Amino acid sequence: MKHTEVKEIMSNPELVGSFVTVCGWVRTARDSKNMAFLALNDGSTLNHLQIVIDKNAGVNLPPEAAKLGASLKIEGTVVVNPNNGSAEIDAKEIAVLGVCPEDYPLQKKFQKLETLREMPHIRVRTNTFNAVFRVRSVMAAAIHRYFQERGYIYVNTPLITGSDCEGAGEMFKVTTIGYSDAYKNADDYYADDFFGKKAGLSVSGQLEGEVMAMAMGKIYTFGPSFRAEKSNTLRHVAEFWHVEPEIAFAELPDLIEIAEDMMKYIIRDYMEKCPEELKFFEERFEKGLTEKLLNVINNDFAIVDYTDAIELLKKADADFEYPVEWGCDLQSEHERYITEKIYKKPVFLINYPKGIKSFYMKQNPDGKTVAATDLLVPGVGEIIGGSEREADLDKLVKAMQDKGMSMDDYGDYLALRKYGSVPHSGFGLGFERVIMYCTGMSNIRDVIFYPRTVGNIR
Ligand code: 4AD
Repeated sequence: MKHTEVKEIMSNPELVGSFVTVCGWVRTARDSKNMAFLALNDGSTLNHLQIVIDKNAGVNLPPEAAKLGASLKIEGTVVVNPNNGSAEIDAKEIAVLGVCPEDYPLQKKFQKLETLREMPHIRVRTNTFNAVFRVRSVMAAAIHRYFQERGYIYVNTPLITGSDCEGAGEMFKVTTIGYSDAYKNADDYYADDFFGKKAGLSVSGQLEGEVMAMAMGKIYTFGPSFRAEKSNTLRHVAEFWHVEPEIAFAELPDLIEIAEDMMKYIIRDYMEKCPEELKFFEERFEKGLTEKLLNVINNDFAIVDYTDAIELLKKADADFEYPVEWGCDLQSEHERYITEKIYKKPVFLINYPKGIKSFYMKQNPDGKTVAATDLLVPGVGEIIGGSEREADLDKLVKAMQDKGMSMDDYGDYLALRKYGSVPHSGFGLGFERVIMYCTGMSNIRDVIFYPRTVGNIR
């Protein structure tokens, strides 16, 4: 259907005076005896196009056209509204493409986010989700551009895997055998299953990413990861989108530089490309959002040793629910205190105790810590997790033994340390978390199309 998009009409002054066809959904309708005004949105912009219907001039407004949610095709002339200078349409013909009955759920101007969460197929038609999903698209493109412009190879790592990257017992099982009591033990069961062994949905593409980095040098993945953790929080979903660069010949300080540069690049790009969305989020969800993001792109991130952070937390004037001791895994309340109260900016925490981190992380000479880093940001907490990788075969095997892991599932991974091993590093960025940070949306369920959480799927 040939038509001109709302965005084009509202942003191109050369169209004033021309006769156009526009299509879209009715967002608001005001109808009176002589005149009617419809606000039309086609998804191309956050802004609605005003359609003016002059009934005295003989323009026919079908009754179903003035209903919220109805889809219309309108022909008319682009004119400028003398009051606000915006382009609008002086309609001549209005055709109803699809009627929208009274039970359309978006009758009220504002609906609670909780209510909208119950109808993911409808909420995308609200201004909030129009803005969220455009920003998601722009930021996804920025991430690809960042890595592509710097020569990284984009790799699609498998989603079904036989090895557990993080080893935290959070894998969804993949099986074609339903409930059965026909097997004597787990080994028999898995042997009979589709792959002939235990399989699951990947929690991270890192292990395969490392394989590719040992050939291509710099790679990145950008795809879904799955976690079966039962934490029902504002920042966890069972299926999230994960950006994972892996870089050969990079040590921890190199990795930190790349992560900071990437974050600044994608935020700058978002601010340039989505000024209307940013303004919308600033007004509706986070006062000071623009200022916060400007501060991020214009200042250095902090780099803080885990051991120093523990000291700071111990001295903190705060009533933490979980006690702080060297060796403890930091809780969200601790991470947020460090980044929100102490540093008031993004913080790379580095050199964590080896006991609380994954087997693959490079062991520091102190014998106690690993060359890991998490990037913590105000409001969201951890947004990136990464490390230099242990490149020494013997040390890696020892770490795996200490964690009680079976070597059988990691043959390919261990071979990397045998054949031309090099220092290398990588990180994982939670895409939804970065969207939360940049939009001020406080619940991860509101930045992903169909959120999957414990007890919730549709
Ligand atoms: O810290 P994580 O578990 O690190 C890894 O998976 C590494 N293999 C990454 C790497 O080095 N290549 O996860 C990385 C990031 C977290 O910082 C967080 O932003 C996000 O992934 N993340 C989640 N996001 C939403 N829901 C969940 N359940 C998430 N789990 C992790």
